[in-house]
Amino acid sequence: MTDLNHNIFWQVHRDLPREAPGSDDSTLRALSMLPALPASARILDIGCGPGAQTVALARATSGHIIAVDTHQPFLDELVHRADQAGVADRIHPLQASMFDLDFDHPFDLIWSEGAIYIIGFERGLREWRRLLKPGGLIAVTEISWLKPNLPEAARAFWDEAYPGMASVEANLTRLAAAGYRSLGHFTLPERDWWDNYYHPMAARIELLRQAYRENPEAQAALDSECAEIEVYRQYSDWYGYVFYLGQVVGT
Ligand SMILES: C[S@@+](CC[C@H](N)C(=O)[O-])C[C@H]1O[C@@H](n2cnc3c(N)ncnc32)[C@H](O)[C@@H]1O
Repeated sequence: MTDLNHNIFWQVHRDLPREAPGSDDSTLRALSMLPALPASARILDIGCGPGAQTVALARATSGHIIAVDTHQPFLDELVHRADQAGVADRIHPLQASMFDLDFDHPFDLIWSEGAIYIIGFERGLREWRRLLKPGGLIAVTEISWLKPNLPEAARAFWDEAYPGMASVEANLTRLAAAGYRSLGHFTLPERDWWDNYYHPMAARIELLRQAYRENPEAQAALDSECAEIEVYRQYSDWYGYVFYLGQVVGT
């Protein structure tokens, strides 16, 4: 990525409600599909971003959440949101990488929305399992193929952007192979893509187009930010974000 592309990327992504498709409704629906948590549950939110789901989880549970991200401005935004919501005492931000997590005590629940793709779905499930208690729970969202016979344009875009993307069935097989019993899964509704993510992002892109109207390199960077939105607009029947819920089998 050039410096300009990097700069444009962060200008597009700064201060969005969420940094991936999702909503409080979907976060709470996933939580409701899990067994009840202990009163002081230890929860780890990996790739928390600005923390919409972290705050929703803190409000819906009485647990303590360690929220991990590499990007400090997102952690600062999370602290601000947690303060506003009155749950800052139970949210503990930590600047760390999902590739290198190590804690003194195991967790009751690992949560990760829109972020496990960074390490890879199966690798993340396998490596994070050792951070969970026996019988511990995991809830992750992963972009997944929803039906066969993909249009070539959608296949070509995602083969380049995320070659590890797999079908729901393949991901359930990977979940089992990584040592979890499935507790259910569901596809996020399309509004989870638009309301908190693509619509605010598209509005930001339009503002930046004006600001950089004399700069063809910046316009090209903005085109590439738009491309993902356009592919989803055309091919949302074929892929979506899926919440996968699991429980550690054995120890
Ligand atoms: C697509 S965003 C999702 C953020 C948030 N969960 C949400 O849904 O709004 C992915 C997040 O992973 C973070 N990230 C990227 N690489 C990371 C890493 N190696 N370890 C931890 N977090 C990382 C990014 O900074 C970003 O906040």
